[in-house]
Amino acid sequence: MLHSSLFKEVFFQSRIPQLIGKSDFSFVQYNPAFCEFTGYTVEELASMPMASISHPDDQVLDEKLFSEILNGERNQYQLEKRYIHKSGMMKTGILTVSRVWDPYTGEEFLLGQILDITEKKQMEAVMNHRENKYRLLAEHSSDMIILHHVDFSFLYVSPSVKTVLGYEPEELIGKNPFDLIHPDDVTAIFPQLQELTSENNSMLFTYRGRKKDGSYRWLESTIKVLFDSETGELREIISVSRDIQHRLETQERLRKSEKLAVVGQMAAAVAHEIRNPLTPIKGFLQLFHLEKEMNPAYLPIILDELQRVEGIISEFLSIAKPYSNKAHFVDVNNLLEQVIKLMHTEAVMKKKNIYLYTNPSIPLIQGDPNSLKQVFANVIQNALDAISERGHVEVWIIQEQAGVLIRINDNGCGIPQERLKKLGEPFYSTKEKGTGLGLMTSFRIIESHNGRITIDSELGAGTNVSIWLPVLP
Ligand SMILES: Nc1ncnc2c1ncn2[C@@H]1O[C@H](COP(=O)(O)OP(=O)(O)O)[C@@H](O)[C@H]1O
Ligand SMILES: [Mg+2]
Repeated sequence: MLHSSLFKEVFFQSRIPQLIGKSDFSFVQYNPAFCEFTGYTVEELASMPMASISHPDDQVLDEKLFSEILNGERNQYQLEKRYIHKSGMMKTGILTVSRVWDPYTGEEFLLGQILDITEKKQMEAVMNHRENKYRLLAEHSSDMIILHHVDFSFLYVSPSVKTVLGYEPEELIGKNPFDLIHPDDVTAIFPQLQELTSENNSMLFTYRGRKKDGSYRWLESTIKVLFDSETGELREIISVSRDIQHRLETQERLRKSEKLAVVGQMAAAVAHEIRNPLTPIKGFLQLFHLEKEMNPAYLPIILDELQRVEGIISEFLSIAKPYSNKAHFVDVNNLLEQVIKLMHTEAVMKKKNIYLYTNPSIPLIQGDPNSLKQVFANVIQNALDAISERGHVEVWIIQEQAGVLIRINDNGCGIPQERLKKLGEPFYSTKEKGTGLGLMTSFRIIESHNGRITIDSELGAGTNVSIWLPVLP
C-alpha cells in the first residue's frame, strides 16, 4: 500500500510509534517503534482488536476521536491517552491522527503517531505527590507556613494563622505582612532584609506580630529567599513562623524563679552562716556584761568575727542585687593593676609573690567595672590563699579573636577533681573563715557580661582560672 519506497523507509525506520490504516480500518499497518511502544509483535497486533491496547478508561476517547474523524472536517486530531503495554505497564502518549492521501492513487489513509510522554507523566505524578505532601505538611503544621510574592505580600498562608493570630488565611492573601508587625520591630527588620542575598538566603527574625484582636504576640520567623541564578532577581520567598510568646514567658518565669530559689536558699544559709560568728561575739559580750570589764585579748576575735559577718552580708547582697547594667568601657590592664595594688602589701607580708603581666595592646571591654573588680579580687585572693610561702600567683592578660582572656595561675594546693565541679555552688569553702560565696558571685557576674570562667587544677601542682570576656565589635 505504501507506494513510495522512501516513505516506506521513513515509516519503518522512524523512532516514533506510528500506524497507518485505511479510513474504514479495513487495513492497518504498524511500524517497529509502535511494536516496541506496545510490546506486541506486528502479528499479535494484527490479530487483536485495536482497542485492547488502550487503557480501558480511555477507550471512550478512541471512539470519540474516530467518530470525529469520520464525520469531521479537520485533517488532524490530537488526544492524550493511556496505553497498556503487553507487560501490563501503563504508558501515556499523545496520539496525533492525520488524514493523508496516497500521491499516486489519491486514496485516503489515516496516519497515527504517538509521542511517548510516559516518563514525563511519571515525573509529574511524583511532583504532584510531593507538592501534595508539602501542602499536607503546611496545612497541618502548627507553624505558619507562608509563601510570599516577591514584594513580600501574602500568596499562600497555612491555616495555623487562625490559631496563632486569629486571621482566616483567605483574608490575608495579597496583604502586606509588614502591616501585621509592631512598628518598632519593622524598623529593625527592614535593614536586615536587605542583607538577604543569594549566598545569605535565610534569616531568623524575632518580632511582635499583631493579632486580629489588636494585641501583639512574640513570633519567630525563618525567611528563605530564592534568586534566579541567571538574572539575580528575587524569585521566591517562603517563611515559617511560630509563636514564641510562651517560650519567652516561661524563660522569664524560670529566670525569676531560679533567682528567687537561689536567693531563698541562700537566705536560710546566710542566717546559719551569720549565727556561727555571732555565737562567740555574743559570748564575749555577755562575759563583759557579767564582769563589767573587758579582756583586751578578746577584742581582736570579736572584730574578726564581725568582719566575717560583714563579708558574708556584703557578698550576699552583691548576689541578691542586680548588677548595675550601665556598660562602661573598661581597661582590663588598669582594673587589674588597681585590684592587685590592694592585695600586694598583704601578699608581701606573707612572703607570697604576685606578678601581673599587663598587655597594652588589648582593646577595651564593656562592663561594670566594680563587679569585674570584685571578680578579680575574689579569684586572686583564692589563688593567694592556696599558695604557701614563696609560692606565686601570675596574672596574664591575653588578647583573643573576639575577647580578652585573663588567666590567673597559681602553684598552690590545687583542687581535687571531684570538687572541681562543685565550684560555684554557694557556701562551698575549705577555708576556716571562708564564705564559699566568692566563686558563685564571680560566675554570676561573668555570666552577666556574656563571658566564661573555666577552672583547671591539679592537686598539689596548682590552679589555673581563665576568665574570658567578649569585646564588642
Ligand atoms: N586557686 C585555688 N586553689 C585552690 N582551691 C581553690 C582555688 N580557688 C578556689 N578554691 C576552692 O574553692 C572554694 C570556694 O571558693 P570561694 O567561692 O571563693 O569561697 P571562699 O574563698 O570563701 O572559700 C575555696 O574554699 C577553695 O577550696
Ligand atoms: Mg574566695
